[in-house]
Amino acid sequence: MAKGATKASQRMDSFLAMQSGRSDLWREALTAAQNWVAGLATRANIEGRISGLAVLEEFHAYPGMRLMGLLRDKISADEAAVAADLIRRFSDTILSGANPDRGDAEDDGDVLAELLPTVVSGREARRPYFEVLMVSPQAASRWPAIAAEMRRLRRPEDAFVYEPVIVGSFEDAFCAAVVNPKILAVIVAEGVPFRSKHEAPVLRSILDSAIGDLPTEASALKLASILKGIRPDLDVYVTTDREVEKLASDPAASSVRRIFYAVEELLEMHLAVLEGIQARFETPFFDNLKRYAQRPIGTFHALPIARGKSVFRSEWIRDMGEFYGMNLFLAESSATTGGLDSLLEPTGNIKKAQEMAARAFGADHVFFVTNGTSTSNKMVVQALVAPGDIVIVDRNCHKSHHYGLVLGGGQPLYVEAFPLTAYSMYGAVPLQTIKKALLNLRDEGRLDRVRMLDLTNCTFDGHMYNTRRVMEECLAIKPDLIFLWDEAWSGFARWSPFLRPRTGMGAAAAIEEWLLDPASVAAYEKQQKQLGPKPSTQKLLATRLIPDPRKVRLRVYQTNSTHKSMSAIRQGSMVLVKDVDFGSVQSQFREAVFTHASTSPNQQLIASLDVARRQMELEGYGLVMNAISIALKIRAIIKSHPVISKYFSVLGANDLIPDEFRQSGFVDYLKPGATWADAVRSMREDEFYLDPTRMTLVCGTAGFDGTQFKGLLANRFNIQVNKTSRNSVLLQSNINNTRSDIAHLVRVLVEICGEIEERLKSGGAGTREAFAARVKSLMQDVPDLPNFSRFHDAFRGKAGKLTNEGDMRTAFFMAYHEKSCEYVPLNSPDVNQRLQKGPPLVSANFVIPYPPGFPIMVPGQVITKETIDFMRKLDVKEIHGYDAARGLKLIKQTKTGRSR
Ligand SMILES: Cc1ncc(COP(=O)(O)O)c(C=O)c1O
Repeated sequence: MAKGATKASQRMDSFLAMQSGRSDLWREALTAAQNWVAGLATRANIEGRISGLAVLEEFHAYPGMRLMGLLRDKISADEAAVAADLIRRFSDTILSGANPDRGDAEDDGDVLAELLPTVVSGREARRPYFEVLMVSPQAASRWPAIAAEMRRLRRPEDAFVYEPVIVGSFEDAFCAAVVNPKILAVIVAEGVPFRSKHEAPVLRSILDSAIGDLPTEASALKLASILKGIRPDLDVYVTTDREVEKLASDPAASSVRRIFYAVEELLEMHLAVLEGIQARFETPFFDNLKRYAQRPIGTFHALPIARGKSVFRSEWIRDMGEFYGMNLFLAESSATTGGLDSLLEPTGNIKKAQEMAARAFGADHVFFVTNGTSTSNKMVVQALVAPGDIVIVDRNCHKSHHYGLVLGGGQPLYVEAFPLTAYSMYGAVPLQTIKKALLNLRDEGRLDRVRMLDLTNCTFDGHMYNTRRVMEECLAIKPDLIFLWDEAWSGFARWSPFLRPRTGMGAAAAIEEWLLDPASVAAYEKQQKQLGPKPSTQKLLATRLIPDPRKVRLRVYQTNSTHKSMSAIRQGSMVLVKDVDFGSVQSQFREAVFTHASTSPNQQLIASLDVARRQMELEGYGLVMNAISIALKIRAIIKSHPVISKYFSVLGANDLIPDEFRQSGFVDYLKPGATWADAVRSMREDEFYLDPTRMTLVCGTAGFDGTQFKGLLANRFNIQVNKTSRNSVLLQSNINNTRSDIAHLVRVLVEICGEIEERLKSGGAGTREAFAARVKSLMQDVPDLPNFSRFHDAFRGKAGKLTNEGDMRTAFFMAYHEKSCEYVPLNSPDVNQRLQKGPPLVSANFVIPYPPGFPIMVPGQVITKETIDFMRKLDVKEIHGYDAARGLKLIKQTKTGRSR
């Protein structure tokens, strides 16, 4: 590799950004080539750049080895203008993402004809394109012939078209699968060597850190399982000329889609590859809905809008029809037959679509939900928690969990996340806190009443749990504990090899594998011996506990707002289930679906869930990689920009996660010298990891509070951001973001900073003092965040001394009787008096200020001075459950001090 290129790609962000980094490298090469044409640069310069790109290009079908060879020839022959023209064509095609399929050009020996991608025009234009990685032990000189042979197999009736990418080693195969998201299938031949012929230190370090223990021998099955571990979306095929039956019966062959006997099966292989793609491309519900929309259907049913007649024939609402287009109305239906299916009782294409989603998301079952994750959470809580069951739950979790508990009668045992007071937000709940709650319950003999641990992953601000560790340690204390991971924001994480292990399903898969490993029992027993017969609570808290694999019942639920991070229409959500005892709760689960799901679910929403799954299975890997790389770019630009960095910053891992939870010592992505290996270690080991796509942009230092800045971005610059805090806004990069979005954001921030600078310069000392005072107030005069206090004794039921679970449901319904309630104005002296002398102030309802969006009061909770102080300092307009005109709604106390 050229010196410059190696250095650049050693930075971890450039690895994560390998895809967009590639087009940057080509653009830089183009500039160098144009300079060479103009006599401003030397041939050596352009040679260096092209050799820097060569290794990366071996992992892509286009331009491919022959065109790269041609380019090198032109450079050696000093044909500067021709070389620059070639580079421009390559660069344009790569940058535009145009389908680079070259048809049969290579076969007739016309190398230059390859330059014009046939799919830009012609019949291939609409066929989805992908690349197939072939891992071959044959000499590299044979590869062009193999590729040509593969191309000859194409038939006009093929639904998709692909180009082969051929590599000759285990390492190269891994690197190609990592850096080229267009690769969707891999054909591995037995007998390839392990090490790459390249000296590619960056790629090697990626490989070494990702594989861990390097295999001594490069078996095709080992490579297949490593590739599936990194990219479960890949179809992997193995070819062998040895004992094909023996290979097929090896348990390791489970990650392989098909095993072929050597080369004589070439056409079969081609068909199998296309069939594998078709199996992901198929969208059973959407496909049927499209067919349904084409049929001439008369309706004597509800939903007059269906078929659009009431719209298109109307003088007055026709514009709606014109705006949305005919298909929306043709696809509207209240039918559950005639090619459609029932979401409440699926037996046909919705059932199949859900099964395909389960495969894609690594779950046993998936349920589509059309009322958002707000509903998904309530469904899961109702299905699994009976009245009186204890649920250990993050107090900062979304209100749907709290309301789910009220409805079902589950008793919340609130656990606190670590506070990030400086930014008026919370982090996530430390494992020690969760273990302590479980051990307290154990000590008080109430472990049997604990049903579920309910956490948000990732949190609004990007904290991802070490889901595997949390589940393992909790299962060591209570082997049948159920886990609900609210992954409303992070459904996309499944498609990132870095984030996936930190999802509920990713960790469940790892634990499932661990449970089957005989070494696990030995590890458990060894730890038991070390702990001794009656280990103290302190010792258990200090030990990384191993569960007893023979006792564990792995029961994991995950909800995601598909609409928040994938291409689903708003409110599209999924419940993912991996529960060995699902059979025992299935009927309750159906009841919960019946309770919460609309009997008129929206067809377009269901279709979009089906399509979102298809997209993620076919291009999710590249899209998520892009979202991460965009986030890292934004972080880097804001940090390094001379003007923006004076007023704004994006919080790093070190700002949002206290040191004690970053055990690996990882500081942040942007710390000078941070390497890829550091990040991988942090992802694997740290208690919390920061999802890079969630960027907390501090705006208090520019004199804006979060709400004000959000409004400014939206109203003046058409930039919508996620949520706000007192002194920050949250930016979220997504699968739809492009580098133009980064450019727009940067330009806007520069403009805003310019205005601040101008104001400070021209406004005199008074303006500067006012600005400094405003910044100080936003950044330093921040209210302390109130912890959950306790439930009033009247609502503690059978709670013990050590834990604070409560009967929130009784308190909630008490508020239905006006006579049981009273109102006290927040700022009245009455409040102060009662805080000092009693009777205690007991909240009658949830009070949820936005931001921060978590309940600072729940029904039955005793209100403390900290909560009142916090509320009095709150400067937000939206406080759900609080009527400023009437004051705090409280449950009245009887003379004996008991709640009525
Ligand atoms: C953590 C969390 N869970 C659940 C939800 C609700 O999801 P939905 O908007 O899909 O109903 C949200 C919404 O913001 C959320 O932040």
